[in-house]
Amino acid sequence: MSFNNLDQLYRQVIMDHYKNPRNKGTLEDGSFTVDMNNPTCGDRIHLNLKVEDGKVTDAKFDGEGCSISMASASMMTQIIIGKDIETAMRLSEVFSNMMQGKEYDEDIDLGDIEALQGVAKFPARIKCATLAWKAMEKGVKEGN
Ligand code: FES
Repeated sequence: MSFNNLDQLYRQVIMDHYKNPRNKGTLEDGSFTVDMNNPTCGDRIHLNLKVEDGKVTDAKFDGEGCSISMASASMMTQIIIGKDIETAMRLSEVFSNMMQGKEYDEDIDLGDIEALQGVAKFPARIKCATLAWKAMEKGVKEGN
């Protein structure tokens, strides 16, 4: 697949998550809740996680933000549900490295998150992409 086609595919994946967000809403019986702002624009995310026996069994998010931030939140909740905390944190580290243009562990299945790798070329948007992940990290650290 050429770079242009790949770029287009990635754009479609991002727009699909933005227009049809997975796991949008609030959990009635979440284990913890995190509110976080993107300091550069004031957009915010409200994240609910349910953790049982060290595993993320459910996740929902709400908030306002650009297509990248909301798509990233949708992708993040999608991939961490069913994962143990350790794997969720590892995914977060891999994503952070990807956003900083650093080498990252390519053995881990990133699912739709891969579609965000182009964001690394736009430093002003990196905080948009990492907002949901920072919220998840904060929740996991404080909730455990
Ligand atoms: Fe606010 Fe992207 S512009 S989160």
